[in-house]
Amino acid sequence: MIRIAVIGAKGGVGKSTVVNGIAKVLSARHRVTILDISSSRTLCNIHGIRGSLEDGHDYMIDQGNLKIVSMSSQLSSSFNLSKIKDKYDEIISETDYLIIDYGVHIYDKIVSGEMLAFYGVKSDPTHVIAVSSPQEFVIMSTEKMIESYIELVRNSSDSARGILDFIVINMTREERNFKINSKPVFGMLIIPFYRDLSFNGFWNADIPKEIVNMAKMIEDNVH
Ligand SMILES: Nc1ncnc2c1ncn2[C@@H]1O[C@H](COP(=O)(O)OP(=O)(O)OP(=O)(O)O)[C@@H](O)[C@H]1O
Ligand SMILES: [Mg+2]
Repeated sequence: MIRIAVIGAKGGVGKSTVVNGIAKVLSARHRVTILDISSSRTLCNIHGIRGSLEDGHDYMIDQGNLKIVSMSSQLSSSFNLSKIKDKYDEIISETDYLIIDYGVHIYDKIVSGEMLAFYGVKSDPTHVIAVSSPQEFVIMSTEKMIESYIELVRNSSDSARGILDFIVINMTREERNFKINSKPVFGMLIIPFYRDLSFNGFWNADIPKEIVNMAKMIEDNVH
């Protein structure tokens, strides 16, 4: 199984857009599960999922090869690992790609609880896709977050490790060079600003070709 974490340090930069796009492409040939752990719950809201794995009801939709599972509780001050463990084990045992849609906070009980649940039974590395808007300060905080996130993964079990696969610079409005300090395995992916995505939302628009290509690179190269 391949575990993919889509992270970003700022709201609204396109994390859920990337998750949705790569999940749709990969689910043409593989079993894909999206885990929505974000507080904005965009993918849950789009699909009318109101509960969460921890509440135990209305937490999943199943579209054949594509499942969407909610792990983001609206009122999550606590998190009880034993309450989700059995259902979560079953979900991850039946998927080829687990794609996690994170919120902007990674120091959170649900985030660490999910990692403990995953690395309690699996040892696959976490492939990180970091999404940023083009502003320099957002890129800088995104790179800081990548370090923190990979550290969190590493601390969750002896065998756990994180690999930075892509940095996505999304919604660019001009052609220019972006400076990054980290070295993603597949490099930097630049996605222009698409009016259609902005006005209609990614759920009503075609998947941008850059995201389709990213999914194909993952499918062909990540094993
Ligand atoms: N390249 C793009 N050009 C124009 N609009 C885009 C682009 N990518 C995403 N969007 C739009 O930006 C909005 C925010 O995207 P999205 O919900 O994916 O961000 P997010 O990082 O997941 O936000 P949150 O932090 O709230 O979870 C959506 O309406 C989406 O359709
Ligand atoms: Mg989102």
